[in-house]
Amino acid sequence: MDWEYIDLHAKQWVMEAGDKIRDSFNKTLNIQTKSDPNDLVTNIDKEIEQFFIGKIRGTFSNHRILGEEGFGDAVSDLDGVVWIIDPIDGTMNFIHQQRNFAISLAVYEKGIGKIGIIYDVVHGELYHAIDGKGAFMNDMQLPSLSKKTVKESIIALNATWVMENRRIDHNLIIPLVRDARGTRSYGTAALEMVFVATGRVDAYISMRLSPWDVAAGAVIINELGGVVTNLRGEKLDFLSQDSLLTAKPGLHQTILNDYLKEGKW
Ligand code: IPD
Ligand code: CA
Ligand code: CA
Repeated sequence: MDWEYIDLHAKQWVMEAGDKIRDSFNKTLNIQTKSDPNDLVTNIDKEIEQFFIGKIRGTFSNHRILGEEGFGDAVSDLDGVVWIIDPIDGTMNFIHQQRNFAISLAVYEKGIGKIGIIYDVVHGELYHAIDGKGAFMNDMQLPSLSKKTVKESIIALNATWVMENRRIDHNLIIPLVRDARGTRSYGTAALEMVFVATGRVDAYISMRLSPWDVAAGAVIINELGGVVTNLRGEKLDFLSQDSLLTAKPGLHQTILNDYLKEGKW
């Protein structure tokens, strides 16, 4: 498989999609809700996903597509080549802030991440990696991730996990928040993963994400020696919803062993 060839097309389409999103800023959005009143989708999310699907089908007709908005295929395994797409990750931010969102696109072969692309449209920052070929921000190669202690770390996580919730005993998370140098929450899993990749944060934790939230970020972080698992320390399957713990190499182990391991959840 010529991954460079596929990557070239994918990046070109992501840049075009970015232009479309930027053009939408001065137009009225059609906003709808999905699973709950805070789960938002716009006409632009749908249009961008359909744009990618048209391009992929026209060029790589034997590849399958798993897209958040459901215009792709009904994917229940990762056999062959599968594109995993989140047309806008951080839709709430897109609507409310017109920033802090990204396009996230990944290509997997037999369950292995081959290409990861995350485009921070507003900042013009394209993060991309091909398995085994390094990870980049625009043309700049990103350095490998090095070790950090919890005390020196900034950890990205949503405030939801520090208050009583039905997914994790918040008493496990409170000591981590107390011990860390700082915490941040950006409301976009794709960019929070990119921030781990670039060292802007040292770890990112979430209790529930979907394959399209994490597939591209995982390729980029793995390429830099970071670790991507669920909160049990298991590999993600990129087919179902799961929790996420991604961090610099030693830090991942410390958070898992010293904070999460004894938890009942
Ligand atoms: C959401 C964002 C958010 C995360 C949610 C995701 P969406 O993606 O990544 O940060 O906390 O779980 O669903 O819906 O904006 O694509
Ligand atoms: Ca998302
Ligand atoms: Ca989305």
